[in-house]
Amino acid sequence: MKFLFPLFMLFFFKAYEMFVDDRTAYCEAAKENKVPAGLFRKDLPTFTEAQLKEHGKTASRIWVAYKEGVYDITDFVKAHPGGDKILMGAGSTIEAFWQVYPVHHKPETFAILEKHRIGNLKLDPESKLRDVNDPFAHEPKRHPLLNVLSQKPFNAETPKELSVANVITPNELHFVRNHLPVPQIDASTFELEIENKLTNQKFKIKLSELKEKFEQHTIPVTLQCSGNKRKFMNEYEPVQGLMWDVNGISTANWTGVWLRDVLAHFQIDLKDAKIAHVQFDGLDTDPTGSKYGASVPKEKVMNEFGDVLLAFKMNHADIPADHGYPLRVIVPGVTGARSVKWLRKITLSNVESDSHWQQNDYKLLAPSIKNIKEANFGEYKAIQETAVQSAICEPVAGAQLDREDSSFTVKGYAFSGGGNAIRNVYVSVDDGKNWHLAELKRATNSDAAPRDYREWAWTVWECDVPMPSDAAVCGSWITTSR
Ligand code: MTE
Repeated sequence: MKFLFPLFMLFFFKAYEMFVDDRTAYCEAAKENKVPAGLFRKDLPTFTEAQLKEHGKTASRIWVAYKEGVYDITDFVKAHPGGDKILMGAGSTIEAFWQVYPVHHKPETFAILEKHRIGNLKLDPESKLRDVNDPFAHEPKRHPLLNVLSQKPFNAETPKELSVANVITPNELHFVRNHLPVPQIDASTFELEIENKLTNQKFKIKLSELKEKFEQHTIPVTLQCSGNKRKFMNEYEPVQGLMWDVNGISTANWTGVWLRDVLAHFQIDLKDAKIAHVQFDGLDTDPTGSKYGASVPKEKVMNEFGDVLLAFKMNHADIPADHGYPLRVIVPGVTGARSVKWLRKITLSNVESDSHWQQNDYKLLAPSIKNIKEANFGEYKAIQETAVQSAICEPVAGAQLDREDSSFTVKGYAFSGGGNAIRNVYVSVDDGKNWHLAELKRATNSDAAPRDYREWAWTVWECDVPMPSDAAVCGSWITTSR
């Protein structure tokens, strides 16, 4: 019995060695997360840091390193879902980039990476390759009740139990959707840049000038992430992205100045047929300096159709760091992705923003596309106006109700993009046989233009419904002004 244990260990190590020597087995194991990518592989050659550097983005074969692994990614660059951002790590290590885009830390990505494995990396004794600071080291403090979907970058929902307690969401509980680390900005030296690409004119304006020179307006606006309720889509068929429940949506009173007034001040005429899109760049960047950006068709900014705000206050306080301090654009009635936070630059152009998030994300793909990598994003239009949306927020899923009660209260929200007001909400607790009219609560709005075509905020609703005698399907039915 005494020597059985060493024998067993010997067998174990032999099996492990075979395993690590075999590329297919390694990939399969990586897929099941049994072996993380980047382990030393004794069946492959070892390369120096200098050899790795020779295979930068202009080399005929492009290499990257991850942990102890060296990978030839030349043939993968085209298929990379994040486009040529992968070249950021060319001839170097990719850990720093994966810190900013932690979505990579999953078995599927490890498996893809391992398929391109060509060797091991031997770092120089004095190597600086891994001396990277945590790009998320300066993130702001967050409310402990937020329902966190990811820490880095930070993404969180309003807690379920509080989401429709009021029409206006308190700043600390407003949902957060960040793609990159929160930038640190000195508001006292901050300047917004405006460029008219069609006349080659460039302007700059200080935050203090924006506040002083233009009439200020406060409007209640609902922002919603395009992925709101994705979790439920995932129940039909697996989908990619953060699994938002029903609270990737919130409403705040935003104060700022109309973008159209600022453009008019610089004699920029949006009626100029050559201008088609208004692009926005954020100050949040990834390690290569590539920025978050988005654009909207110019009509959104024109008085006839929209109320685009350059906002510096959220619910009458300075905008919190997570929500775009010191300046963000608010594009009411349009998907949240276009309301660029930490706004640095506005560009008037004949084309859309070239940002990854305008071109290769936030698009509605055909149902036949099962994997994002198969999508030809150029074929699809960027999502702009939000479709009608509603959700039951209370009772929260799994809540216990007393069958002895004759009725109970259902609460939720309804929202439509494009400025359409919610007219009515009906609730059914018997699979659609009977419908009960809900009571509606809207945001009060001093600067509100006539409702119905300029309703930029959600409607919170509440409805007393009879206690069903049996298990029943509960649903809501919405009518809007259009
Ligand atoms: N702006 C910048 N600069 N960076 C971002 O990551 N996220 C966008 C948008 N503006 C984003 C941004 C997305 S996808 C959404 S839904 C909203 O901001 C969310 O705004 P919030 O975090 O204030 O709720």
